[in-house]
Amino acid sequence: MRALYLASVALHILAAALWVGGMLFFVTVVLPALSHPSLRPSRSRIIEHVGRAFRPVAWSALATLLVTGTFNLFYRWTDWDSIITGNFWHTPIGNLFGWKVVLVTAMVALHALHDFWLGPRAAEALERGENSAATLRCHASWAGRLVMIISIAVVVLAVTFVRGC
Ligand code: HEM
Repeated sequence: MRALYLASVALHILAAALWVGGMLFFVTVVLPALSHPSLRPSRSRIIEHVGRAFRPVAWSALATLLVTGTFNLFYRWTDWDSIITGNFWHTPIGNLFGWKVVLVTAMVALHALHDFWLGPRAAEALERGENSAATLRCHASWAGRLVMIISIAVVVLAVTFVRGC
């Protein structure tokens, strides 16, 4: 069982690296590369295709984080009784973990909004040459930035949770 727990922690960290790293790579490498004048005319199309390609990777990483994170929580940190009676949430570790749950929920909700509503609507508007395309793209890009900032906060919280308590 201990080996399974260690594998689960490793998988959790790999999934977090894929999720946050994918976004950081996009912002620090892909976007600056696309500002090259020769690529500017296709910039929106490329961003759309990169976004579509990242979608299944990102959702798989999130599902892995949820499954492995829940397993790790019950293996090392708490049990059902403490969760249900509320005892866990009143400890320093439980308190930090509660904040992690709040941030992860907000992050997933925003990411879903970005992936399934703002992103596709911006792409459609661009295709039809509608005026709303620029506004929708701006909203989609802000939603993406917020998801990235929350994700980084979740990593900081996770490290504090494991090593700070
Ligand atoms: C989806 C719900 C999640 C749950 C239930 C969860 C739960 C946990 C638990 C219980 C640990 C401690 C593992 C241990 O050492 O026993 C942990 C560690 C960690 N989590 Fe999560 N997590 C979730 C999502 C995330 C997300 C979205 C990220 C990244 C954005 C993340 C990043 C990390 C990192 C980097 C660690 C390792 C911290 C360290 O060893 O210092 N987790 N998580």
